[in-house]
Amino acid sequence: MGNEKLITKLNEALGWELRAINMYAHYVANIRGIHRLQLSPLFKSEVDESIIHADTVRNAIVKNDGVAVTKRNPEPILHTTDYTIMIKESLKTEMQAAVVYGELMDMLENDDDKEIYDAVEQIYLSEVRSVEEMRLLIN
Ligand SMILES: [Fe+2]
Repeated sequence: MGNEKLITKLNEALGWELRAINMYAHYVANIRGIHRLQLSPLFKSEVDESIIHADTVRNAIVKNDGVAVTKRNPEPILHTTDYTIMIKESLKTEMQAAVVYGELMDMLENDDDKEIYDAVEQIYLSEVRSVEEMRLLIN
């Protein structure tokens, strides 16, 4: 059923958000050196943004009579205190999120529920902005 496919994809997005919350919180705590001054608040804002995204996706799953996952995506979170590695890992994560939300938008294009499409589009755009932000930070 179409709904089941949609719920599976929404849960995939939720799993990535739950992982992002963990990863960014880990980096907030672990970042060392002078860059901590600027990157710790940046990573903290990514934690907050991921919590909001997760809330939105979870609500969409419930609205579609699905059961939201409570486990994060199993992709390992790389431990490091090196900010350059953190930014590279952040870029990978944001690119992955943008792909999943892009796929969700395709699935929702013909859906009658424009509210969900709208919410997913907002998240997609914020992931794309984060991709660009991380890309600029790398060099
Ligand atoms: Fe997100």
